[in-house]
Amino acid sequence: MRKKIVAGNWKMNKVLDEAVALTSELVNMAKDEVQNDAKIILCPPAIYLTTIKKYIEDAPNFSLAAQNCSDKVSGAFTGEISAQMLQSIGVEYVLIGHSERRQYFNESNAVLAEKVNTALANGVSPIFCCGESLQQRQNEDYVGFVKNQLTESLFHLSEEQLLSVVIAYEPIWAIGTGLTASALQAQEMHAALREHIASKYGASVAEEISILYGGSVTAASAAELFASPDIDGGLVGGASLKSREFTNIVKAR
Ligand code: G3P
Repeated sequence: MRKKIVAGNWKMNKVLDEAVALTSELVNMAKDEVQNDAKIILCPPAIYLTTIKKYIEDAPNFSLAAQNCSDKVSGAFTGEISAQMLQSIGVEYVLIGHSERRQYFNESNAVLAEKVNTALANGVSPIFCCGESLQQRQNEDYVGFVKNQLTESLFHLSEEQLLSVVIAYEPIWAIGTGLTASALQAQEMHAALREHIASKYGASVAEEISILYGGSVTAASAAELFASPDIDGGLVGGASLKSREFTNIVKAR
């Protein structure tokens, strides 16, 4: 059965006491209100991971993700954080290939394939981000472009390795813009990606992979998005910084 997941990518936001307060609010709201079996993954800035881990220890539906990891195993890479370090502090997931990192840090599909490899080698599950720009959507080559992101960064994996990967489709034109993709637009891409996975690994593996939608998800848009057959949850940015809004998105899963 595919995992239903709602992940909150906090990006570079919150000072420590705000991050702790948000986490406590989310855990308490989920305990009192969330009836479904959605896995809630918090993606705080790396500096807070060990602290946030302590606040979710007694909340079984919560997990922790880093927002990035190095493609290197260890060594003289100042400022970098390795997958091995993440594993050593109990981090279960790591975002890989977020469009902001592809854009601002020139992360290529090849580098991201290496990041996926180091994460898997250290028992950290990748949440692999993909998505097209507005230009690519307008040029109508967007499905091919996103399929290729999977081909170049994931399709070297074994079946067993791929089953540890969560995919997050985030159309760049919907990130931070308030322009949420319609459920139809998101479902079209999710179905195309699942079919692409099936073409390489077979239908039963493709059916097992959780594919999340990200891009201006709100409590108002979540229910329709999550009702789509190939949308297994969300990767939420701005709305994840507000406990009430994020909890309402989780409840919609
Ligand atoms: O990783 C999730 C993020 O890129 C989406 O951001 O603010 O559009 O929900 P937002």
